[in-house]
Parts: sequence; structure tokens; C-alpha cells
Amino acid sequence: MALSRRKALALIGGGTLLAATGAVGGFAATRTPNSAIRPWSLAGQYDDPRLNALSYALLAPNPHNLQPWQVRLEGDTGLTLIRDSTKALPETDPLDRQIFIGLGCFIEQMELAAGAAGYQTEVTLFPEGPDGPVANAELTRGGKADPLAAHILMRGSCKEPYEDRTVPAALANQLELLADIHTDPAMVDKLRRLTIDAWMVETMTPRTMQESVDLMRMGKTEINTNPDGIDLGGPFLEGLMVAGLLSREALSDPDSSGFQQGLTIYHDMLTATPAYAVVTTNGNNRTDQIAAGRRWLRLNLATTGMGLSLHPVSQALQEYPEMKEHYAQAHQMLAPEGHTVQMLGRLGYGPATQRTPRWPLETKLIDA
Ligand SMILES: Cc1cc2nc3c(=O)[nH]c(=O)nc-3n(C[C@H](O)[C@H](O)[C@H](O)COP(=O)(O)O)c2cc1C
Repeated sequence: MALSRRKALALIGGGTLLAATGAVGGFAATRTPNSAIRPWSLAGQYDDPRLNALSYALLAPNPHNLQPWQVRLEGDTGLTLIRDSTKALPETDPLDRQIFIGLGCFIEQMELAAGAAGYQTEVTLFPEGPDGPVANAELTRGGKADPLAAHILMRGSCKEPYEDRTVPAALANQLELLADIHTDPAMVDKLRRLTIDAWMVETMTPRTMQESVDLMRMGKTEINTNPDGIDLGGPFLEGLMVAGLLSREALSDPDSSGFQQGLTIYHDMLTATPAYAVVTTNGNNRTDQIAAGRRWLRLNLATTGMGLSLHPVSQALQEYPEMKEHYAQAHQMLAPEGHTVQMLGRLGYGPATQRTPRWPLETKLIDA
């Protein structure tokens, strides 16, 4: 019960709730949302090299798992990536900055997967300007496998407490090629405080908290029906739902004991962080945001390969009035004047991640 309540409530503040409970047996087995996670097993099973690459690309990290992508195949070797503008987070991502970072993760993962299959990808970003399609891509034979591609199916965002274990300097130095890595205890302390304070703002601001609650998929049926958003599943959580202990109402009500317990749990998780990774860009246009996403994806694959965990904690980077002070603090601490902090993530040693739901590739293909 204690574990399940911890997990049940750990979603407050955004993110996917892991369904792992250690439970085995009939009920547990029947609660797995198999259809929602099937795209992970279908990756790489297509004949058309474009579909093959896309089947991996759609496993990329993206904000609130909205999966804001659509693809049109062009001729025999081309494709157009389009942003699905019905997928947005107007409260916490009012400028769609994070949405475009997620699209950058998608493009990088597509290119890596194509390379691993022997195809080179030529990407043209925003061929009709920033308001048009996100990219055109042409796949031709001759690509080279990047070692990072080997980690695609093991990657996940690890939203759990991390071990009290330092990130070795040798690994931090390697990751520095992709991001700023903070391991200095005084700096890590400050960043912990910042991420906790910023997360409290998001959680206690009713409209931003409600945005997350509205995206919750509660239980296997909801997750399979809508394999996106914040998935709350597994036998223990579903048991709590059936018992009426876990509901959207409780998660929207700061006075409920569930909400209060969730605050403690999330606070403890954010506290259990030995290091941080930060991606900044000089500019902040759509191309910069795509570049930041590409770098984040590479970073997440690199950490996966090293046995390290990574978890975006984006609250302090969000552009809404209540967050202004923390946004300014994050930028003052983490970026040169005028640059933008695009991603901030917890880094350390956490448990293995579970596969998160995805819409099948076929639902993301649109007609010419
Ligand atoms: C731009 C961006 C911002 C994100 N911000 C957060 C965040 O603030 N909190 C969080 O728990 N997860 C965050 N995530 C992680 C997503 O929730 C996660 O990628 C998505 O649910 C899919 O899960 P997966 O990465 O494990 O495949 C973010 C991801 C991206 C790309």
C-alpha cells in the first residue's frame, strides 16, 4: 500500500507514472496496456526504410508525451514532418518551445535509426518558413551507424529518486560534449532548490496543474484508448482507482490528503538528485529549439548507454507569469546573458525505465 500510494501520487507536477509494482500473477498480467506499448516492439519491422526510421522516431521523448508529429510520405524516398497543432500545452508551454524541442528529438532519432539501417538522411528544416512544415527529409542509401542508435529501445525518462551516488567525472566529461553537466555539490544544492520551488509553483497554480490532470490516462482502458499524456496504470494503481483513492478530483484538490502526500513524494524524488544536465542555445528560434531537442535526444541515449538516468524537469524554464522569478533565476545560474536554457534534467543512477505509450505509426501518417 505504501509503495502504491507513493507511485500513485508521484505524478503530481507532470510526467509519466511508472506502473512497475513488482506484482506478478493474473491480475497484474492483465493490467499491462499491451496495445499502448506495442509500437516499441514494432520498431524496425517495416520494409520501407522511411517507415522503419519513423517507427523508431516516434519513440522519442516529448513533452507530456503529446507526440505532436504527423508525417506525409513524398515520392519513393522523401517525407515531410508536420507539427500537429492540436497537440499543445498552452498553460505550461505557451510559446510551444517544448513542443519543438520534442520534434527535434524526433528528427534526431529518425536520423539515427535510418543510419543504423544503412540510410543517410538529408533534412531541410522549415522549408516554407517557421509556420510551415517542420522538415523535409530524403533518405538515400549510404548512411553510417552511430553507436548511440543502439540505445534507442532502452531509453526512457527516469522519474524516480536516484541513488546517493556521484556521477563519475569521466562520464560527466564525456557528456559535456552534449550538455553542461553540474556535479559540484553547492551548485547541485541550488538547482535542487530551484527545481523544487518551480515545481511547487506549477503544482499550486490551478490552471497549470489542471493541464496535467486533464492529460492523465487512468488505467489500462484509458491508456490503450489514448496512448499519450500521463499514463497511470498497473495493478496497484488500478486497485486504488477502483477503491476511489485515486481520482482526477483528488489530484486537482490541494486540500485532499492524496495531493498533500503527492507533494512529499515528488519533493523527495526531486531531492534525490546527484547531478544535473543543461542544454542551452544562443538564440531561441524554432531552429534553435529543434537543435536543442536533437542534443537532448543524443544526451539521453548517451546516458542510457552509460547506465545513467536522465529526467527533464522543465518547470523553471517555462514562460508564464507565475514562473517569472524562477525562470530568471534559472537563466542567471545556467546560461550566459541572452542565451536560453532549453532543457534542465536530473542526472544520476535510477531504476530501469518502463516503456511509455505511443500512438501507432499508421495513425501518424497523413495523405499527400
Ligand atoms: C521538451 C521536454 C520537456 C519535458 N519536461 C518534463 C518535465 O518537466 N517533467 C517530466 O516529468 N518529464 C518531462 N519530459 C519527459 C516526457 O514526459 C517524456 O519524454 C514522455 O512522457 C515520454 O516518455 P519517455 O521519455 O520515457 O519515452 C519532457 C520531455 C521533453 C522532450
